[in-house]
Amino acid sequence: MTPRPLLLAVDQGTSATKALLVDGEGDVVASASAPLTTAHPRPGWVEQSAEEIWHSVTEAVAKCLTGHDPARVAGVGLATQRESCLLWERATGRPLGPMLGWQDRRTADRCATLLADGLGEPVRAATGLPLDPMFSALKAQWLLDTYDPDRSRARRGELCLGTVDSWLLWRLGQGAEHVVEVGNAARTQLLDIRTRDWDQRLLDTFGVPREALPRIAASTGPFPAVRGLSPLSDGTPVASVLGDSHAALFGHGVFVPGSVKVTYGTGSSVMGLIAGPDRAEGSPLCLTLAWDDGTPAYALEGNIRSSGATLRWLAQLLRTGEAELAALAAPDSAGVHLVPAFGGLAAPWWDNEATGLISGLTFGTGPPELARAALESIAFQVEDVVAGLDTAAGRVTTLLADGGPSDNATLMRLQADTSGRIVRRPLVRDLSALGAAHLAGCALGVFTKGRLAGLARSEDVHRPDRSAAERARRALAWHDAVARARRPGTADREPGGTP
Ligand SMILES: Nc1ncnc2c1ncn2[C@@H]1O[C@H](COP(=O)(O)OP(=O)(O)OP(=O)(O)O)[C@@H](O)[C@H]1O
Ligand SMILES: [Mg+2]
Repeated sequence: MTPRPLLLAVDQGTSATKALLVDGEGDVVASASAPLTTAHPRPGWVEQSAEEIWHSVTEAVAKCLTGHDPARVAGVGLATQRESCLLWERATGRPLGPMLGWQDRRTADRCATLLADGLGEPVRAATGLPLDPMFSALKAQWLLDTYDPDRSRARRGELCLGTVDSWLLWRLGQGAEHVVEVGNAARTQLLDIRTRDWDQRLLDTFGVPREALPRIAASTGPFPAVRGLSPLSDGTPVASVLGDSHAALFGHGVFVPGSVKVTYGTGSSVMGLIAGPDRAEGSPLCLTLAWDDGTPAYALEGNIRSSGATLRWLAQLLRTGEAELAALAAPDSAGVHLVPAFGGLAAPWWDNEATGLISGLTFGTGPPELARAALESIAFQVEDVVAGLDTAAGRVTTLLADGGPSDNATLMRLQADTSGRIVRRPLVRDLSALGAAHLAGCALGVFTKGRLAGLARSEDVHRPDRSAAERARRALAWHDAVARARRPGTADREPGGTP
């Protein structure tokens, strides 16, 4: 009898790489994780090591497969942090310089110059994204300016520019091909979101030679097969690649417009599918390609730069853990607000000059109020974005939650109360990895989307328990604090205005 197939999913995130082994019923049979470090060599600089990322993948995979027969792994699914960018030599596979993390803001001045030159609108029209240092394009330009200033090596095809997925595909295939998944490519700010190909005008704007860019593949490939990743057999197919946030949406079983998910992580991503790119017209949120499995699925998304990262920062300051903050938190923040604009504010404000702020301090303010304010900052930010997904046609009634901080029941209750919406939280928190496994399973004929959509999902449900008037009062106080965190003259602007 042939052994029943397993799917191995890897979620390469900012703070850790997670691996999941999923069986043909869609159930998780094993999981493992390997932590990652981040360096902040200067204010606003956020770097990770490409080699350390690769080692965290090998470690998580080896741990996850311990006690399981690797020959049963029918295929690998990959979910990755997005927008982070690195450069390596094609001949040696050696990275040139660090990987610039998605939170990196060293290109903020360059971004401001391009915005002043009027490039915000055309870039948004082509890519669906506001011109911002978070996306890969400005990071790619910085890396090339630093390591190949005249672009001669890039033009000769000696250098590879890539996102985390292209780097991992390169390593998994032992350098067989330089390739990027189209949903990840959509976050580079170099891709025309409608044609789903590199946009020559954008390549010229950011000084990126096409020869340095990867081939663009659908989310189901074709990708190079795995080589030399013990204990997997050489030739194991990579059957799916997705951006982590996109993978979470797939993992929730959202295959048609209507539902909205919130992935809480280092930052947060709020995302819902839309019928097509033209539906994004007039929205304050980003237009993104969620995946392409033969049919492109478009989504609206709002990114929040700091959510779990806010808790980590405060927990370190108070010499405690993130999970303990919830127990420490006062029932009320007593007028204290924490606006976590550690690196400016992303959706829906897109304000690079906003600075982090704690307001409403009194002599009565202590760690419990600060802990409460930190948790509330996540819920308020998420709600500011979700409100942008409410349409004339209908209000978003339910949020599907996942990611590390969703482990925190206090935060989930707070989200329901702050949003006035139901929050459903699957008991499997690693929805990014699960989604990658599910899409890999679809590509390999282990699952169908219809079956995945109907899968019984164990979850807990948090229902809102706060009056509309009370929600409005609290939102007003939060927005007052946000306005203080922003530079004078911009705070009265509508959310989503081009920065
Ligand atoms: N119980 C908890 N309560 C609150 N926060 C938590 C808890 N457990 C983990 N976190 C936070 O979750 C974050 C890590 O979550 P996760 O592993 O989903 O993120 P990631 O995948 O590394 O990041 P990203 O998805 O943004 O790239 C950390 O910032 C940590 O502070
Ligand atoms: Mg993640």
